[in-house]
Amino acid sequence: MNKLKAVKGVIKKLLVILFIILGVLLISFVIHIHEINLENSMLREIDQESTATDVMIDIHPRGQVTDKWEKDNAFPNKIIYARIYEATVNNNSDGLMLDWSIRLNITEDCFLNNAWCGTVEVHQLINGTENVQTIDLRNYDEKDIELVHYVAGQDLLIPLSSGDYIVYHSDGTGVSGESPLGNSKNSSGQANVGLIMYSESGDVDFSDFKLDYYIKKSYLSGDDGFAFTVLFAAWLLLFMFSLVVSALVLHFEGRLYSRNRLVEESFRLCAAIADMKDPYIKNHSHRTAKYAKMIAEQMGMAKDDCENVYYVAMLHDIGNYFVAEQILRKSGSLSREEFEAIKNHTRKGAEMLEDMESLPHVVEGALYHHERYDGNGYPTGIKGDEIPLIARIISVADAFDAMNSDRAYRNRLQSESIKRELRDNSGSQFDPVIVGVFMEIIDKIQF
Ligand SMILES: [Fe+2]
Repeated sequence: MNKLKAVKGVIKKLLVILFIILGVLLISFVIHIHEINLENSMLREIDQESTATDVMIDIHPRGQVTDKWEKDNAFPNKIIYARIYEATVNNNSDGLMLDWSIRLNITEDCFLNNAWCGTVEVHQLINGTENVQTIDLRNYDEKDIELVHYVAGQDLLIPLSSGDYIVYHSDGTGVSGESPLGNSKNSSGQANVGLIMYSESGDVDFSDFKLDYYIKKSYLSGDDGFAFTVLFAAWLLLFMFSLVVSALVLHFEGRLYSRNRLVEESFRLCAAIADMKDPYIKNHSHRTAKYAKMIAEQMGMAKDDCENVYYVAMLHDIGNYFVAEQILRKSGSLSREEFEAIKNHTRKGAEMLEDMESLPHVVEGALYHHERYDGNGYPTGIKGDEIPLIARIISVADAFDAMNSDRAYRNRLQSESIKRELRDNSGSQFDPVIVGVFMEIIDKIQF
């Protein structure tokens, strides 16, 4: 039982600590979420000067230097050449890349012909007026184009010059099937988009660019997210462990309670069998046991020893079972034989209990509880400290209950009379130390 109490104490402390840790974890996690939200809402950018590695962009012509072709009869007075340009975007961060766009600043005269994997937002300055239109060059109607443009054969040509710019908005179709762009840690993390440009040289300078983007990080990504995941998993394991141990403790407590109750009721049954021979002493053994235990506790005895005193006292008169009822119930004076028969309940009780090894001192309690401190008791006449302590305790408790109960030949005594009797017989019938202890607690008993 004590071990169970110790385990319960440890589990209670553990649960308190766990809930404090949970509170700290939750507060830290809320702060962490706020910080991630701030990061996620931050517009980031990369240009040709950037050395960042979490997101990288490379804009380059496709293929070899010679991979360009002449456009026949586009203009009567000049020849233009076409070339494909690709932009490769790599997301190496630990989040998703959202709403990304590439601004391509035009530094020389050229023509935009086509673009794929997204739409282009064209800013075209003509005679001091800026024309702006967003077009999906994979699917358009020529009459809807508001920008200055030419149509040469099947080809659309949107003239651009220095100061103009194109903003390329990816639609995810060139993103290895991903939109938004995943990261290289759990996917390809790469997007390839492209466009076709015409110019007289066949080469367009795209070294002046800017990539705008947002990175959306998961709350559980990164070192902090991993730490939170591990800590919460550990917390959960400890919490589950505490619950399992608590359930086991409750289970064993329930079993112990049932067992203790069985023991208690069994002892009370034995005591009742002895007491029932005389209706005037009904429950005498149980009350004596309670008083004896109170004395033991007041004397500072260990809890187990107090329990032992209680159960031994419960059986102190078990030998009455062998005394004839008419003798026990007799209200008049007893003959010498009758008195001997009554005295013999101590030896009979001891005989009954001699094989009861699980309850220490049970034989001593039954055999010596009528011994007197001055040596004039029975059955052996031992005196003083020769009388086992447990018997001396029971002797006081037994006498108190006898005086505090009605008998066939008298009513119960008044409390002051009882106290006087105990004091008067202290040192003769009773151990004076035990009487002194009992006087300290006697007023707690309901007279
Ligand atoms: Fe007795």
